[in-house]
Amino acid sequence: MKKFDAVQLIFQPLLQQKGDSVWQPQREKGLAFAPTNIALCKYWGKRDEELNLPMTSSLSVALPEKGSMTHLSLHNKNEDVVVLNGEALSPDSQFVKRIKAYLDLFRQENTWHLLIDIQLNIPVAAGVASSACGFASLISALNDMFVWQLSMRDLSLLARLGSGSAARSLWTGFVEWHAGVQSDGMDSYAEPLKMEWSDLYMGILLVTREEKSISSREAMQRTIDSSVLYANWPRKVARDMVIFRQALQAKNFSLLAGTAESNALTMHATMLSCWPPICYFMPETIAAMQRVWQLRRDGLELYFTQDAGPNLKLIFTGKNKDKVVEAFPDLDVVKLFVE
Ligand code: PMV
Repeated sequence: MKKFDAVQLIFQPLLQQKGDSVWQPQREKGLAFAPTNIALCKYWGKRDEELNLPMTSSLSVALPEKGSMTHLSLHNKNEDVVVLNGEALSPDSQFVKRIKAYLDLFRQENTWHLLIDIQLNIPVAAGVASSACGFASLISALNDMFVWQLSMRDLSLLARLGSGSAARSLWTGFVEWHAGVQSDGMDSYAEPLKMEWSDLYMGILLVTREEKSISSREAMQRTIDSSVLYANWPRKVARDMVIFRQALQAKNFSLLAGTAESNALTMHATMLSCWPPICYFMPETIAAMQRVWQLRRDGLELYFTQDAGPNLKLIFTGKNKDKVVEAFPDLDVVKLFVE
């Protein structure tokens, strides 16, 4: 199935109710913020590349104040313009092409064009999930501008068509993305978990601001095509998802964060076993991991997770915050549940 057909399927009830007006902006502007999310149980590998359908379910936690604010306005010229953090991007950039292709899913002929002004307060494409919050805020801003009044489930389905992990970026807190089994992907959406953990922190440890060497899309595909370890990945996820639920229920921090670290390292192990190999580690990444492990041996409850980039996200609780910052003075500390 093509993305466009998936959109038609999601829009069916809306089309019956509002007719063709759903394809036209109803307001001059649209605005939305979406927080970025960091997976504790990673999404790695697609069962459908076109629809971004994952092989497995995944579980994330949002960084509530880090993310993407998207302002949309009508643009009278004959093409969309994307402005990122105040700078107009070249129409030939990959990012702009992805956004235009996404807007085309909602565009009947060339009836409108938009100025898409995105303010990101996290580094772009360095494994800090900028595309997740980017597409989640874009679909939410479109929902505002076109007055679709879609449910959160539908927004999650649509965000997924932009970037898989965007399906999880519509909420704060813990979010589970159900892999689903249907070939049209209508059961592959995310939902928030009714659970708070006021004492939980994440620290972004930026090793580099450089863009990643290989996109997660390409890396996932190569892993599936060439890693013999990948066959074990769905088993690892199934087991970890059970442990995550137990850890959340019992508020067992070391079980939660330790499972997140183990899950991330297993994902990277599948990549190292690809051919040609994929290695998102830089020397500084390894040095930081070893520092975390040493601190843990010394009694500090500190764990990390890593996505498709060299940067780490450290996981800890409030009581250890000062010690963690002392060890990593440049850490960007985020309280995961704000009152
Ligand atoms: O949604 P994508 O294509 O950016 O892939 C995200 C992949 C990971 O960040 C490595 C894992 C995850 O679940 O977010």
